[in-house]
Amino acid sequence: MTVRILQFGTTGQVAREMIRQAPAHDVALTALSREDCDFEDPEKAARLVNHHHPDLVVIAAAYTAVDKAEEEPERVYEINAETPGAIAGVCGLNGPAIVHFSTDYVFDGDKGFPYVEEDRPHPINVYGEMKLSGENNVLSACPRALVLRTSWVVSSHGRNFVKTMLRLAGEGNPIRVVDDQFGRPTAAADLAGFVLSQASRLAAAKAGDPVFGLFHFANDGETSWKGFAEGIFAEALGERAPKVEAIATADRPAPARRPLRGTLDTGKLERVFGVTPRPWRAALAEIVADLKTEGAAA
Ligand SMILES: NC(=O)c1ccc[n+]([C@@H]2O[C@H](COP(=O)([O-])OP(=O)(O)OC[C@H]3O[C@@H](n4cnc5c(N)ncnc54)[C@H](OP(=O)(O)O)[C@@H]3O)[C@@H](O)[C@H]2O)c1
Repeated sequence: MTVRILQFGTTGQVAREMIRQAPAHDVALTALSREDCDFEDPEKAARLVNHHHPDLVVIAAAYTAVDKAEEEPERVYEINAETPGAIAGVCGLNGPAIVHFSTDYVFDGDKGFPYVEEDRPHPINVYGEMKLSGENNVLSACPRALVLRTSWVVSSHGRNFVKTMLRLAGEGNPIRVVDDQFGRPTAAADLAGFVLSQASRLAAAKAGDPVFGLFHFANDGETSWKGFAEGIFAEALGERAPKVEAIATADRPAPARRPLRGTLDTGKLERVFGVTPRPWRAALAEIVADLKTEGAAA
């Protein structure tokens, strides 16, 4: 049975990968842009779910500007918590299943080893706090919700670390990157591929099925931002890779604090879904190949 997916978001990294990959799956995807549905209007978002009557809802729109979030917590709450909660509310028990994305920034990063889903969240910035409220709102409003926490999302489009590093290298500036924050890079393509591959299972599963609840999804392998930058340059530029100078988080003051080690453990995903995310370097190689095809990484 073709799964009818209603997706909020068209321009974000994950949203675009969902749209790009959907034709390879037995799904009919309708994606709503910010013009179709601004997340500052929770009632409209909820009405649109009723109007489209899908089998599965995917929330791929979010406020993701981590530093700017510190200036406008009410707006971030509305976009990242209130509206996802309103959408989940209309999905409820008998409506569509729902997939929502969250973040490693729900953790403070002080645990010392990778976080599992049962670990107590403790956000240290506004973005993390509001994403945590969003998780709670979605999970409490809809028993058929899958919330995927992810980290360090990158792709060949939008604004992300891969593109920023390649732009800096192209400009010939010295490259100084934080070497004391650790995590797991994640390709938007892999997140989207996972959701699409599980769409029919999610649409058919009943409340109480283990596929619902909170899960971590990240590509395999932990690195620092400096290690990630070096991987990007090695992949894209080979022997022309610039030297990356290590700096500490304290050397790069930012409005929002970041967790030093928000690394996500993906064991639950592997146990319940039988899916093991591939190494981040393999996902990165595909992103760089896409950028080279587009002429954006030479
Ligand atoms: N990026 C990361 O490193 C990262 C890490 C952990 C978790 N996540 C989570 O993963 C999910 C997907 O992230 P992503 O990287 O794909 O995000 P992204 O590329 O930053 O895209 C965010 C999307 O949300 C839309 N949006 C923002 N404000 C909106 C509003 N008021 N109403 C409607 N749409 C709005 C944007 O539309 P416009 O193009 O019109 O602005 C854009 O399409 C999010 O839930 C995010 O919190 C991301």
